Amino acid sequence: MTSELSPIDKAKFVSAKRAAQFVESGMRVGLGTGSTAAWLVRCLGEMVRDNGLRIKGVPTSTRTATLAREVGIEVVSLDEAKWLDITIDGADEFDGQLNLIKGGGGALLQEKIVATASDQMIVIADVGKEVETLGAFPLPVEVIPFGWQTTQALVEETLVSMDVLGRDSTLRMNGEVPFITDEGNHIIDLHVKRIGNARQLALVLNQMPGVVENGLFIDICDRVVVGYGDGKVEVRDISEGTIATERLDFVESDNLFADLTD
Ligand code: A5P
Repeated sequence: MTSELSPIDKAKFVSAKRAAQFVESGMRVGLGTGSTAAWLVRCLGEMVRDNGLRIKGVPTSTRTATLAREVGIEVVSLDEAKWLDITIDGADEFDGQLNLIKGGGGALLQEKIVATASDQMIVIADVGKEVETLGAFPLPVEVIPFGWQTTQALVEETLVSMDVLGRDSTLRMNGEVPFITDEGNHIIDLHVKRIGNARQLALVLNQMPGVVENGLFIDICDRVVVGYGDGKVEVRDISEGTIATERLDFVESDNLFADLTD
């Protein structure tokens, strides 16, 4: 029930609920991964069930695919959809240019492929994700398991010549064992603290052998829907340069708020 939600969860919920209004029948929709994206999937599922919304959803992780099917969204692969009308996903950080750090949930590779294959990408986030400069959140870098320690050393060495404040890195773990992505890779989190030139860092990282993808999303996001704990939402549009503010009511619904696990 919404009355039991924390202010952050309420903020995530209202951003997802508002973003769901951008989805129309007939659309092919990229479905993000993470706790905020899970709210979106539930909202869309409710619209499919109650309002007759017809969409094809392309999930960005196995867990999003499972949730989407559970709530009644038709799930197709990206290759079946070929191109998407819209992708809606969460983020770990966003700045004033709507550049992002993503991958806190480990799904950055599929997320970036899906977002890039979309007419528009909308990020849904609570206001705590907003930063002046990216980098306080550790930057995830997906690497292939072969020689990952060598890749990690090379990445750290490369950071010396980058405009960052720190160059420590850690292999992401899942308990006692390395975290494995949906593509069977590892993730190295870069504790760079502050990224002065995100575009340059993203390009340099992706040129390194062993690196599959990094969590910097540059010039990919078109809009951010920012949620607040009191139900306020702001829709910020990068190309129109506009900010629209409104307030959403919490409407309690057993279907929507029961058993949310992501
Ligand atoms: C998943 O890999 C991430 O990119 C998520 O989108 C990001 O970590 C945001 O997750 P939350 O919505 O759970 O904060």
